[in-house]
Amino acid sequence: MADSIKTIGILTSGGDAPGMNAAIRAVCRKALVNGLKVKGIERGYTGLLHEEIFDMDKKSVSDIIQRGGTILGTARCEEMRTEEGQQEAANILHKHGIDGIVVIGGDGSYKGALALSRHGIRTVGIPGTIDLDIACTDYTIGFDTAINTAMQAIDKVRDTSSSHERCSIIEVMGRNAGYIALWCGIANGAEDILIPENYDYNEQRIVDNIINNRKHGKRHHIIINAEGIGHSTSMARRIEAATGIETRATILGYMQRGGSPTTKDRFYASIMGAYAADIIAAGRTNRVVALRKGEIVDIDIEEALAMQKSIPEYQFQVAMELSR
Ligand code: F6P
Repeated sequence: MADSIKTIGILTSGGDAPGMNAAIRAVCRKALVNGLKVKGIERGYTGLLHEEIFDMDKKSVSDIIQRGGTILGTARCEEMRTEEGQQEAANILHKHGIDGIVVIGGDGSYKGALALSRHGIRTVGIPGTIDLDIACTDYTIGFDTAINTAMQAIDKVRDTSSSHERCSIIEVMGRNAGYIALWCGIANGAEDILIPENYDYNEQRIVDNIINNRKHGKRHHIIINAEGIGHSTSMARRIEAATGIETRATILGYMQRGGSPTTKDRFYASIMGAYAADIIAAGRTNRVVALRKGEIVDIDIEEALAMQKSIPEYQFQVAMELSR
């Protein structure tokens, strides 16, 4: 089986994340070292269904390790959720002589990979998302850059918040997960952190907290609100009315997805990318690369999709204790 794989494709899918380019570079170069041919697939599964496929060599991935975004482009593809779309994608891969693909993305992207493996394409996933919400891995490519971008932005909002003695609600991304909010909440010393995993929607508690902090001389009050809770602007209006303290909302938005990747993102993207190229060259399929307890491992995609992880309650508790 190991010697029957000759050509692999690489695609990025779902939301882009800083470090995806470093992963593309690593997959491409290590696959070439392993004697495979490499093809790039543009715009995720959408581009695959439109046969946007091109040959890659060593130089195709020159000068990209430091760049944010993904040179392959990305998309969210509804068609790939259907049996017809999956069959068509497999047919196109067979037509182009592609025996295996490496998919860089999140859980949704792995579902496509799982379907393709059932159609005889070897598949390996690499965790790429700023949200850190992939249960099978302790790390996802892009998370480190995103939290550093958000942390720096939050520091800036805090400066002006203190000067004006305002309360600030800063909304960070994360879809339904609160990891970005939790990490920034701790790193920025936020007074409140609202995450979907444990928020009780008790605004009176926040109001009491703001008033109490003000009585004790705090000039600012930073609330990190996760996207999964949202509604930061209306929350700011309600909090201002209840406390009498000027309150502003800032939604950081897509700036968190861009920018040059940090060392950590480039490092794990490179190691995970190379590992993916090695296991696919060895003929393995339906695997996802993961970082678990400091080690790079690979897991069956179906098992990975069934896993769950939760916010470490201790970290949340500490965040609250340190900012009181
Ligand atoms: O998954 C990354 C992410 O940025 C989430 O944090 C956010 O909910 C979502 O993507 C936004 O997606 P889109 O780019 O489709 O608006």
